[in-house]
Amino acid sequence: MNDVQHPALRPERVGELSLANRLAVSPMTRVSAAADGTPTAEMADYYRAYAQGGFSLVVSEGTYTDTWHSQGYTNQPGIVTDAHEAAWREIVGQVHDAGASMILQLMHAGALSQGNRYRDETVAPSAVPPRGEKMPEYGGHGSWPTPRAMSQEDIDRAVAGFVASAVRARRAGFDGVEVHGANGYLVDQFLTDYTNERDDRYGGTVARRVRLAADIVSAIRAELGPDFCVGIRLSQGKVNDFTHRWAGGSRDAETIFAALAEAGATYLHIASEGRDWVETATLDGGMTITGLARKVTGLPVLANGGMHDLDQAAMLLEDGHADVLTLGRGALANPDFPRRLAQGLPMAAFDHQMLQPMATLSNARRWRQTL
Ligand SMILES: Cc1cc2nc3c(=O)[nH]c(=O)nc-3n(C[C@H](O)[C@H](O)[C@H](O)COP(=O)(O)O)c2cc1C
Repeated sequence: MNDVQHPALRPERVGELSLANRLAVSPMTRVSAAADGTPTAEMADYYRAYAQGGFSLVVSEGTYTDTWHSQGYTNQPGIVTDAHEAAWREIVGQVHDAGASMILQLMHAGALSQGNRYRDETVAPSAVPPRGEKMPEYGGHGSWPTPRAMSQEDIDRAVAGFVASAVRARRAGFDGVEVHGANGYLVDQFLTDYTNERDDRYGGTVARRVRLAADIVSAIRAELGPDFCVGIRLSQGKVNDFTHRWAGGSRDAETIFAALAEAGATYLHIASEGRDWVETATLDGGMTITGLARKVTGLPVLANGGMHDLDQAAMLLEDGHADVLTLGRGALANPDFPRRLAQGLPMAAFDHQMLQPMATLSNARRWRQTL
């Protein structure tokens, strides 16, 4: 053991959840479910390994929420059928038995859908062609189609999908859900000035653009009661626009965070899509985005982006920038990251080859065999 314990190894509470340490697995799409969206035994092994490795909390990959327009990738898991629910129950049971809590990330891809077995068209707040190109690591190629602008009926149906999925998640044994409001997917498309050209109650000022996110959180909260963990993930950058930043800086951030706290969020999870925290966290006025989220809401804040850097991780916790750290690449390279940290063992470096040519679990297994 180290003489001085790293602060990430101290226990923490997030809402009703008691976590043995402050190290969580970041949501990571692995496009490894069955074609009908049912999670597999291979996925159970994958998620259980993080719990066995000492992570106190595992956030699942983005999981689709309805049989309309939410699915983002072929072989993405869903939480919309009894078979999905039963398969997730098995996974959550294994993660619990190995000592970790588990949260299901609920995702609607909106315009950034590159594989949907239920629909051909994509939908979004406005008919704006997405920037960038589809992602080969998740099975997509070429440019995105222009989405259809959502009607109020489409929006109501999307919100209902999130609520029904949260109900299924609780029934499957998950300790909470996380609304995917980050990285350029549907909820973030509403939040983003250049993808939301609406002139109804969901468009215009940032207070209006955050309304869909807040409506989803409050609808889940109303259905599942005060104690169920309902987090939301946010980011300025996007999978198809890494350098995007909120135009109003800290003023926008305050409006967004306050609206989500008011809606009943249990925690805020702030990601740095495509960049490390240190490159994205500083806002005008000198506060960090995660520190500001804590100050404005008083809620637990999960910080993401390069947290496998142990000095940065310690600084965030000790200087009050975050309550819990989520690891993506660090966890992929070291499913036992917390155990290694506690025992002072060296960490493996992340090798992007493990996600090539696609980010599937079978490709990672093949890559491991070549080591
Ligand atoms: C293979 C892969 C899949 C990802 N899938 C998701 C996802 O489903 N939902 C999400 O919010 N972020 C997703 N991300 C982003 C990560 O959660 C995380 O924000 C990013 O890797 C940066 O954190 P890191 O520096 O610890 O890797 C994914 C990242 C990777 C590498």
